[in-house]
This record gives sequence, structure tokens and C-alpha cells, in this order.
Amino acid sequence: MDLIPFQYLGLAALVVTVYLALRVRWKHAGRNDNAPIDNKGGDDSSPASKSIWHANKEQGEEDVLRDPKPLLDFDLKTAKTRDYIYVNKTLRYPYYQTMAHQPMEIENWIEITSDYEWYLSEKKKVIESEPVYQGKKVLDSLPENDFACQELMETVIDWLPKRYPTLFDRLLRAQDEGSYDGIFNRVTGERFEWLEGHAPDGCKALTIISRLTECDFLMAREREDGHVYFTGGLVAFPGFYLLSEKIDKPMAVVHAPVPQFNEKLLMSVERTLKRMLPSAPFERSSWEIVDDLNLYWHNIALLPAGGKVSVDPGDLYLRIDRQTFRKLPKSRGIIFGVHPLVRKLESLRRSPLLPALLHKIHTESSRDLMVYKGAEAYEAALGPWLEEAMREQVESGLIGGTENVGDFREYAGQERDE
Ligand code: HEM
Repeated sequence: MDLIPFQYLGLAALVVTVYLALRVRWKHAGRNDNAPIDNKGGDDSSPASKSIWHANKEQGEEDVLRDPKPLLDFDLKTAKTRDYIYVNKTLRYPYYQTMAHQPMEIENWIEITSDYEWYLSEKKKVIESEPVYQGKKVLDSLPENDFACQELMETVIDWLPKRYPTLFDRLLRAQDEGSYDGIFNRVTGERFEWLEGHAPDGCKALTIISRLTECDFLMAREREDGHVYFTGGLVAFPGFYLLSEKIDKPMAVVHAPVPQFNEKLLMSVERTLKRMLPSAPFERSSWEIVDDLNLYWHNIALLPAGGKVSVDPGDLYLRIDRQTFRKLPKSRGIIFGVHPLVRKLESLRRSPLLPALLHKIHTESSRDLMVYKGAEAYEAALGPWLEEAMREQVESGLIGGTENVGDFREYAGQERDE
């Protein structure tokens, strides 16, 4: 009789062990590294930081970010990024200020397009027209950020040959007494190498990155006061601000010109950036309408108060800044990659519902947001142009005219002019 409780205990222990083992399996079965991102975007009225926080938590603190899958048959001549009008929640209706971010697959961290060489040469022009390491308008790093620059460069040179093996070679070789590390860029023919243990850091590391990717990188870190500060980066294509105006400033000051940011987003942004784990990167995008291809500083941003753009509306560009966010595991640096992508509005004229969407965003959104985006300089001309494009879409049967413009993502991939 005395043995029965022990038998029960043994049985209970067995049941608990089996349950725990199955739980671990279920959890891992539910995680799919290849799961596609929700390309439809959609309304994001819930506090978005919550979902990223849960994604982070699920991945586990100790989890290492896996390597990207290689693009073995990559063709640089025809390469395009994903279509960020549809992939992220860049354009949305109703349009209001949200973080609008989503988890990022590691394959999508850096994208290379057929314009790769153009981006690199534009970037070089911008950097070299500024006195590098001195003027610091576009390229700078605070001492506290120098190691993060090195870690970022090492991350980039590890990642690029894995994702784009036809474009980059990792250079790892032993010679004489030492081992060397580095990267060879087959597109530009440039080679960057250093003795292992002596990798460049600070601005030198950022300059090497500028010769490898189309992206700019803004860098930030949490300081002891619990706030996140802009601590350096290479920002050759800001469009309308300068790194030198923002460096060493906390997020609240960096974003001071952005309407509603400090009231609505600041807390979530800082919390998300601080909690972000190296294993759980995320992405978002921003947009604006610009009047030229000068990614460094657009003409529209130089107009005097009340000034209007002089190009036809169809020749304006939709500039989407595709943004990626990572936390570096060693330095804890926050890495904010920005890839500016531009498309003429004319090329979007027959994309179903897009003219209607842009029209509604401009006429129905909070005025301060549109003024921040510079709409006063082009909206009087763009409004009638969009209305005509909407009429054409109805007359040609492309749309019925009664659709909800917020559903524009359902037409992804059906653009008629590219
Ligand atoms: C989750 C993180 C972040 C969110 C949600 C966010 C959001 C925004 C938004 C909404 C804007 C206005 C442009 C737009 O419509 O998108 C903006 C502008 C900007 N952000 Fe952020 N941001 C984040 C992180 C950062 C970080 C880490 C930095 C710097 C290291 C930064 C630097 C800037 C700068 C320089 C501008 C331009 C401000 C100006 O108009 O002068 N942001 N950001």
C-alpha cells in the first residue's frame, strides 16, 4: 500500500517530462525560417511594437541569426528590389503616424539592384565632396560607436558573399606570419583586406561599407540614461537633413521635426530599439514625393517658403526609403539601414488604385504630416493629375471606381507600366 503514492509520483513525473519534450518540439515546429512575410501589409492600428517584441521573445535571447540563403543565379543587369509599395506598410489608408514595422527575413537585409554601380558612384561623389573625417556632414562616428562600425563592417563582409556569391568573395588567407580577412567586390574590382584582429573601425569601416552596398547606415545606441542616441553612420542619401545635425542627439531630438512623433511614437520606438534582439531584425519604409534624383539633397527641400516644384507631376518621383533595423550582438549597436528607391509617378499611373490612394492620402491625412512631407510644393499640380489618372483607370476598366483604396495591395504585381 505504501508504494502506491510513489508509483503515482513516478507516473506524474513521466507525464510532465513527455509534455515538456513535446512542448519544445511544438514550439520549434511552429517557427519557420522560410515563412513568407505578409506582403499585404494592412492596417496597423494595434501597438505594432508588441508583435515585434513577441517575435523577439520567441526567438530566444541566445538564438543566433542564421545565414542568408544564397542567390546562386543572381543577374545584376535585371535585379530589382521587392516592391515596397506593396511589401511594407509604406503607403496605407487611412494614413496616420504609426511605426508600421514588421519582422524581417535575413535574406532581405541588403538588396542589390541593377543600379548598384550608379548608387555607389553617387555615394562616392557625396562623400568625397565633403571633407571625409573632418566635415563630418555625412560620415561620422562618436568614439562610443567606433567598435559598432567595425562589427557592422564585419557583419556586412560576412553576409554579402553568402547572399550574393556571384558578386563577392570573402578573402580569408594566411600569409607569412599572419592571417588576412577581407572582401573582393567583383562588380567594382575593389579589394579590402586587413590583418586578422586589426579590422578597420569607426569611419574607415563605414567607408568600406559605402563601397559595398547601396544602403546608408544610421547607427544608434542606448546610453546609461535609458535613452537611445544617434551615434554615427554613413548617410550619403538623406534627401533633406544631415547626419551632422543629428549626431549625439537622443531620438526625441532627432525626430523633433516629425509631426506627432514624440507624442505618439517615441516611447514605442525607444522601447522597441532597446528590446530588439540580434536574432530578430525588423523593417519598415517611409515615403515622400521628390522632384529630382539627387538623393543627397533634393531640389524640393531647397525651395524657399511657398516655392513650387517646376517639373510636370508625372515627372515627380515617389521616393521610398526602405529601412532595416538590426542589433549587433557584440557591440549592442543599433543599425538602421536605409535604401532609397525612386520611381517616376508616370510609371505608377496605371497601377490599379494607386492614383486614388495617393489622392486620398494627400487630401484626407492630418495636414501636419503632409506639410512635413513637403506636399505644399507640389499638391496643387499633382491633385488634378491624380484625378485624371483615376478617371482613366475607370474608363479603361482597370478599376470599377467604387473600390476601397485601402485594398490596393490586392492588386500587387498587376502594375501595367514598369
Ligand atoms: C523603430 C524605429 C524608428 C521609427 C518607427 C522611426 C520613425 C520615423 C518617422 C515616422 C520619421 C518621419 C519620416 C517618415 O515618414 O517615416 C522618421 C524620420 C527620421 N528618423 Fe526615425 N524612426 C526610427 C528610428 C530611428 C533611428 C534609430 C534613427 C537614427 C539613428 C532615426 C533617424 C531619423 C531621422 C534622422 C529622421 C528625419 C528627421 C527629420 O525630418 O529631420 N530614426 N523616423
